[in-house]
Formats: sequence, structure tokens, C-alpha cells
Amino acid sequence: MLQFSKVEPQSYLGDLLVYLARQPGGKRAPRCAGGAVDEVLRRVHALGDFSGKEGEHLLLYPEAGKPGLPAAKRILVVGLGKDEPDRELFRKAGGTVASLAMKSKVRELLLVLPEIACDMAEMVEGVSEGLVLGAYRFKKYKTGKEPEASGEMLVQAALYAAESKGVAKALRLGEIGAQSACRARDMANEPASHWTPAHFSEYGRQLAAAQGMECTVLDQARMKKLGFGGILGVNQGSARPPEMVILEYLVKPSAPTLLLVGKGLTFDSGGISLKPSAGMEEMKYDMCGGAAVLCAMQAIAQAKLKGLNLVAIVPSTENLPGPAALKPGDVITQYGGKTVEVVNTDAEGRLILADALVYGIKKYKPDMVIDVATLTGAVIVGLGHHRTGLLSNNDDLCDRLLAAGARSGEPLWRLPLDPEYTKQLKSEIADLKNVGKRDGGTITAAAFLKEFVGETPWAHLDIAGTAWDFTEKSYIPKGPSGIAVRTLFDFVRNWKG
Ligand code: BES
Ligand code: ZN
Ligand code: ZN
Repeated sequence: MLQFSKVEPQSYLGDLLVYLARQPGGKRAPRCAGGAVDEVLRRVHALGDFSGKEGEHLLLYPEAGKPGLPAAKRILVVGLGKDEPDRELFRKAGGTVASLAMKSKVRELLLVLPEIACDMAEMVEGVSEGLVLGAYRFKKYKTGKEPEASGEMLVQAALYAAESKGVAKALRLGEIGAQSACRARDMANEPASHWTPAHFSEYGRQLAAAQGMECTVLDQARMKKLGFGGILGVNQGSARPPEMVILEYLVKPSAPTLLLVGKGLTFDSGGISLKPSAGMEEMKYDMCGGAAVLCAMQAIAQAKLKGLNLVAIVPSTENLPGPAALKPGDVITQYGGKTVEVVNTDAEGRLILADALVYGIKKYKPDMVIDVATLTGAVIVGLGHHRTGLLSNNDDLCDRLLAAGARSGEPLWRLPLDPEYTKQLKSEIADLKNVGKRDGGTITAAAFLKEFVGETPWAHLDIAGTAWDFTEKSYIPKGPSGIAVRTLFDFVRNWKG
């Protein structure tokens, strides 16, 4: 969708020509292009109608054939505000441009990058991410004539820069990260009937074939042989078998290995500990951790990153109250042998993750592990929809993830994980029970996982609050956000030993 263009803005004849303007200090009018566009900005500013504030915009319709303004059908000026510009500011500007372009049913545009003092790569990446993420719509199930259904969408956006050094590469990286996040949104938007464990396997296989990775799928029979009591137990109430997708992207033996694990619950009804019906439809999103992990692998492989060996595991099943479903009080044996008393069948994510974590750590001996999961409602109570919960046994891993999240516009917040919390998980009859008391629910969930990672540096991302209904911004649509895809991509890109 994105490309770098050398077409002079003045002679661009397309649907929409876009400029970004900073808000100047004092009473000065914003400037963006020199020449006739700035002349218009001066007049409009004098009327008090456009000052270049962040998110503010101005749409012009130049008269065809008249000398002066560029010849495009429309000219859009979007304000950048006066704060120090960073990648997030450009991302938001890109998102604003995308949504305004789509409102005008524009199919192609040329965006002129402003000449301001800032890191060029950050600007290009930010704008690129914003354009792609902001243009996202999920229309597959819309019929009829509504605008959403008419197939109108931004097909092509070109960026123009007077100084072109590094632009093409930054644009490509921004586009890869954003498009991968959009694929994760697609998976999440699909109803549970159309995004099943088998779909995860199929996506993994196709991704592996396209990107030269290894893909292995463990099916139910294999899981039985291996003793995956967690995922098999959660699956007992479902008519669809569970699947576990494993992707390997191995660059060189000397590089450290990162294991990614994502919760792929394609529908979480709670099981016998049934959830209330109001809002239960949202539980089709309970696979967003798995989607994030697969789509991060997609971005990493597409960008041909070479710093880390990567292994991704997505355990996937539904959690339904069928006749054979797990019952509260049942005891299961996780992969590796630990027994768990399942006090609440709705705390199922940790059961499937535990199998995957133990298996992945035993088989691949990773240097570090990151799991991503819509694990607890409690994280929404604590952090709302603005930050992902981060829990870990390793400070360095946390610092890197916090930095990657900040750079990606996907902020995280670390929660404590002291040994006291683990005490809540003591069971009278098994090694552990799967829930503690209500208090500190996000932490006790992580404390449960901690019991399965041993000494391996590990971080857990609880994305229950951010995987959908994430902070409202121009490039975040209603519904699934694609959270964690770009954070993981950035984490790997910025890896230095
Ligand atoms: N998938 C849910 C967590 C969730 C809740 C995600 C709300 C997004 C929004 C998870 O499997 C779950 O049900 N957790 C329980 C744990 C409890 C039983 C200890 C929860 O958070 O209520
Ligand atoms: Zn649940
Ligand atoms: Zn769940």
C-alpha cells in the first residue's frame, strides 16, 4: 500500500495531496509547503480557523487549471501541534490522514513529509505505521450499500521527501509492522466459528511456507502422547480438537533464542464456571495473544531480522461447557508432571500456557521467554484500557520490553510478582490450584505461570485490557487493536546482546 515517490507535489494530479504543519509559537501562521499553500494557511489562520494544533485539519479544493496551488484534486493540511515531534505524533498524524482520506473516498494520496528538525527514520516510520493502521477496516461480513460495504478504501499512499536518504527502508519497516498488526486484527475480528484452532494451524503453515520458516503442528493425538493435560483438559467441553502451532525462525546458532508463547483461546465461555451472557461475545478475542505472536513472527521474518533465533508457540482451543468439560475440583496433570486442581474452569488461559511454556523451554532451551495473553479481567481493573500489564522474573527483559512498548505507542506497566502471591495458589490435594482469591488477580495468574518457567528469564504480557477497546487514537479502530505485534517486532529489531 505504501511507496516512496519522487513526483513533485506541485505537479501531482491525484486525489489527495497531504501536508503536515507544525503549530508555530506566538501569533505566527503555520507553514508547510512554501508558495501558494502557505499563502492560504496565512489567510485561514488570520480568520482563526487553522493554527496547526495536533489533529486539526484543513481541506482545500484547488481550482483546476488555475496557476498557484498544486494541481491535485484535494489538498489536506494536518496539524502536528507544537510539542517536540516523536514517532507517536507522526503515527497519530498518519492515522488522521488515513481516516480523512477514507471519509473523502480517496483511493490514493501523496503525503509530503515536512522539513522539520527530527529523526527522519522515526518520522517516516511513524507516518507509515499511522497510515496503514489508520486505514484498517474489517468489512468482510458487511453486505449492502453502506459506505463501509462499498469497498471504498485507501489503496495507495505515497510519501514524498525532499531528502530521500533512508526513507525507503523506514517506510518498509513501518509498513511491515503495521500490516502484521492488521493481520492480527483480522484474526481477532473473525467470529469464533471462522477463526478456530485449525485456522491458527493453517495460518502458521502458510506463513512458514511463505517466509522459509519451520512449522510444526501438534494435534490432539500427539498432545495425548506427550501428556499435555492443561490444553487437553480445557478442550474437553469442545467439539473442535485443540491444536498447538510451533514456528521456528532460526538465524544462527550463536544468537540467543527467544521463545514466544501466545494464548489462542478462540472462544472463552468460561466452561462450567460459565461467564455471564452480557458481553460474552467479546470472548472471541481471547485469542489475541496467539494472533500477536504469529503476526510478530510474520513481521520479523519479512524484515529478515537476524539478531535472535525465534520460536513461537500458540496453544489453541475453545473453552466450552460440553458434557465432557472439566468440572470445578477436577485435577489435571500439566505437561512436565505438575498437578493442578482446577477450582475455576474460567481460569483456563494459564492451563494451556503452562503446557506450552514447559514444552517450549524443555525442547528449545531458550535464553528468554515472552508470553502474551488476554489473561485476566483484573488487569482492566488495575490499568484500564491504556497499558498492558507486564510481570516478569527478570529486570533486563522488562526494561527492554518497556522501551519497545513506549517506542511502539503500546505502553506497558510492570506489576510486582513477590513470592507472597504464590501462596494463594496452594492446594490441599494437588501441587497447585489454578486460582487464588479475587484480590491481585493479574498477579496471581502470573504467579501461576511463574511456577512453570523455572530459572529462564521470562516476561508475561497481560493484554486483556489493550487487545481491544485500546486507548482511542486516530490509528486505533474500535474492536481489536493488534496490540503487542509491533512491540515484539521492535523488541527484536532493537536487540543488542
Ligand atoms: N479470558 C479471560 C480474561 C478476560 C476477561 C479477558 C475480560 C478480557 C476481558 C480469562 O480466561 C478469565 O476468564 N479469567 C478470569 C480469571 C478468574 C476466574 C480467576 C477472570 O479474569 O475473571
Ligand atoms: Zn476464562
Ligand atoms: Zn480466557
